[in-house]
Amino acid sequence: MKVICTEKTQILASRVAEKLGAPLGEVKRSRFPDGELYIRALDLDGETVIVSSLPDAGSIIELLLLIDACEGSDVTLVIPYMGYARQDKRFNTGEPISIRAIAKALSTGVNRIITVNIHEPEVLKYFGVRSENISIAPAVGEYLADSGIQNPLILAPDDGAWVFAKGVASANSWDCDHLDKTRISGEEVRIEPKHIGVEGRNVVIVDDIISTGGTLATAAMLLRSQGAVSVSAACVHGVFSGGGYTRLISAGISDISSSDTIERGCSRIFAAPSIAEALRR
Ligand code: R5P
Repeated sequence: MKVICTEKTQILASRVAEKLGAPLGEVKRSRFPDGELYIRALDLDGETVIVSSLPDAGSIIELLLLIDACEGSDVTLVIPYMGYARQDKRFNTGEPISIRAIAKALSTGVNRIITVNIHEPEVLKYFGVRSENISIAPAVGEYLADSGIQNPLILAPDDGAWVFAKGVASANSWDCDHLDKTRISGEEVRIEPKHIGVEGRNVVIVDDIISTGGTLATAAMLLRSQGAVSVSAACVHGVFSGGGYTRLISAGISDISSSDTIERGCSRIFAAPSIAEALRR
């Protein structure tokens, strides 16, 4: 078995290969004069694992070419960060279901697909092959425990992220809650943790994705005003679009960590052990 990857997922792919004890395959890349991408996967094996996050359109093109280059090999595709996954419904006429379009295109030529904390696991139905979504919530919990934080309150910014937050908190039996919005009047809403007060607590807000940081920045300012001693953040996919990282720091978040599904300076949480375990199953 060989592990190959697209350009922006080199570090995570190397870690997956190391966990599997499998060699990394070489992929040559260059550009045609008109800017189109040329790739060549060298020394392909009968069984190939492609590891490719999709943070941008260029990565999608590169992955499509790589899948086609693997024709004749038994291909398992690992998509640690699945871009275009948040447009998962047609909200207005004339819109695509973006995740469906991408999923269909990626399903030709692969036998199995593994995603990591995809935004809405229900969208796996759009892949035309056997697919599975894994959660690295336990790895986030492990990272936080190793960081030495004392008795934190793990907080989801909304009800939708609560299952993820429980997964982060459970191994260490930490308190866990989610923020809740109560409408007081036509003009006034109150946002606070549903069950547990934050006064005097070290709060860690956890989410699957931090994109613009808007969700977490609002939450952080509120929590500080409600008496939290410290507010930090941890997520799986650090997209940090439009200055998202700096927005969070400006909002008083003391520490931000993400996983290596998107390779960032703050990628201190490792997805490779969970991916390797899923691949071995
Ligand atoms: C929403 O359902 C997701 O779990 C994240 O909360 C959201 O995508 C974060 O986006 P942003 O960082 O732009 O607020």
